[in-house]
Amino acid sequence: MNVSDAVRSRKSVRAFLDRTVPQALLREVLGLAARSPSGGNLQPWRIDVLVDEPLAAFKARMAQRMSKDVSPDASEYPIYPDKLGEPYRSARFKLGEAMYAQLGIAREDKTGRLRWLQNNYRFFGAPVGLFCTVDRGMGAAQWSDLGMYLQTLMLLLRERGVDSCAQEAWSIYHQTVREFLQTPPQHMLFCGMAIGYADPAAAVNRLQSERQPLEQFTRLWGFAP
Ligand SMILES: Cc1cc2nc3c(=O)[nH]c(=O)nc-3n(C[C@H](O)[C@H](O)[C@H](O)COP(=O)(O)O)c2cc1C
Repeated sequence: MNVSDAVRSRKSVRAFLDRTVPQALLREVLGLAARSPSGGNLQPWRIDVLVDEPLAAFKARMAQRMSKDVSPDASEYPIYPDKLGEPYRSARFKLGEAMYAQLGIAREDKTGRLRWLQNNYRFFGAPVGLFCTVDRGMGAAQWSDLGMYLQTLMLLLRERGVDSCAQEAWSIYHQTVREFLQTPPQHMLFCGMAIGYADPAAAVNRLQSERQPLEQFTRLWGFAP
């Protein structure tokens, strides 16, 4: 698989097979992804990966947290701007509607939608759970470096036939994650990532998100028409 194939075939997978991802593979891609560029070569990404017993223990802790009360911890950063204007608002709405259409969950079924969202907090059944944290002293530029690492990682996983889904959803339960991982206080949680092999039978995995046409987000200066 070349880079273009990996880019084209990567998509967010939200249902996984009960199949182990080899630890040697994980070590390799986690290390290789660190070849990602970062401003000043700060390499600000900090990564926790959970498999097997620690993942089971974490999931149990999370289930316990959710069984008491699903209301989130106070968020440490806004996932979206307060007032999400166009065209961003529509893009988000469209994605949500397309996903619930695949799942057959109607717009009025708020409970059904909420219940589905809770799958985030089980890593969608993935055999590998990853968390990405960053030093609180880092700013917007370094947060963009986190994206460099995470996308490189997802592409390297694709090259090896492994699927993933980045998950900002974890940020609203950062306290629970922090307690379990014993994250140093100077670090904050950016996102999680579910990693594993896609369940081909799961309707949600049929979702194919759209993209803006090139002309909508580029201005090509000096290009032939
Ligand atoms: C940083 C980041 C956080 C995300 N958080 C979530 C999440 O919490 N839950 C979820 O289901 N998808 C999440 N996604 C997946 C996006 O919805 C998805 O990337 C987008 O709709 C494009 O679809 P694609 O990844 O299938 O190409 C996240 C993606 C990124 C890059």
